Amino acid sequence: MAAIRIDGKAFAATLRERVGELASAFEQAAGRKAGLAVVLVGEDPASQVYVRSKGKATVAAHMASFEHRLPAGTSEADLLTLVEQLNADPAVDGILVQLPLPDHLDEQRVVDRIVPEKDVDGLTPTSTGRLALGLDGLVPCTPLGSLMLLKDQLGDLTGMNAVVIGRSILVGKPMAQLLLDANATVTIAHSRTKDLPEVVKRADIVVAAVGRAEMVKADWLKDGATVIDVGINRLPPEPGAEKGRLVGDVAYDEACEKAGAITPVPGGVGPMTIAVLLRNTLVAAYRNANLEVPSEL
Ligand code: GUN
Repeated sequence: MAAIRIDGKAFAATLRERVGELASAFEQAAGRKAGLAVVLVGEDPASQVYVRSKGKATVAAHMASFEHRLPAGTSEADLLTLVEQLNADPAVDGILVQLPLPDHLDEQRVVDRIVPEKDVDGLTPTSTGRLALGLDGLVPCTPLGSLMLLKDQLGDLTGMNAVVIGRSILVGKPMAQLLLDANATVTIAHSRTKDLPEVVKRADIVVAAVGRAEMVKADWLKDGATVIDVGINRLPPEPGAEKGRLVGDVAYDEACEKAGAITPVPGGVGPMTIAVLLRNTLVAAYRNANLEVPSEL
């Protein structure tokens, strides 16, 4: 039987609409808009596309967008100075420094300079520590969006076996923490895991976040498993085509015959990331303004 296609695009559109309405309510209550600052260093084409779409989505959700585009040769001192200015700016509730940064810049040192109250990416040591402790804080957008899709699909995750493939700080590790908080039994698999197909076979929930095109095959999956594909990989172009197809970390077509539900690429997890970024920014704004965070967020 063909798997249910989890429509992240539709879920994200609904979330963005809800955030937009609550952002208007925030403006009424606080006398200012919630604000998101995005910092882009250099001219990585994919990052430029992401930053532009974040800016548009922020404005569409009735929030203020501040874009800072710096040349690739920007010094770390200058970048840290900008982060500190944004930390101190009362119009800015969230700060996102687009990754990856050019090689001469130390990503962790730059991210660490963001005050935790504005860490809408959830990447500072305070945010990651609070997540590990099970305390309130800002959580990385892609894993939180993935968890929302899972709960929407499955309801209560208690007792389910979840396998997260990938251990990055942006996705794998926080995803595992969120699943653990949701009472799943969690395994983190990675490039050194032995017998990965056997490990995946036990999973009721598979989250693939490795960045390898179509690596997870249908015969790795337990019948009826719910599959969240975080990967976005571009295949080499077919003869005559300019660009290759975008595919996930899961071999989608064959996996559809085995999984119970699965996110497509594109149109699955991807659209959730920006929607959750807007959500995180608004949560930060309510907290920064000493207003109660609406439960709908
Ligand atoms: N680059 C790719 N994804 C992300 C993300 O979620 N946050 C940041 N800051 N950079 C990214």
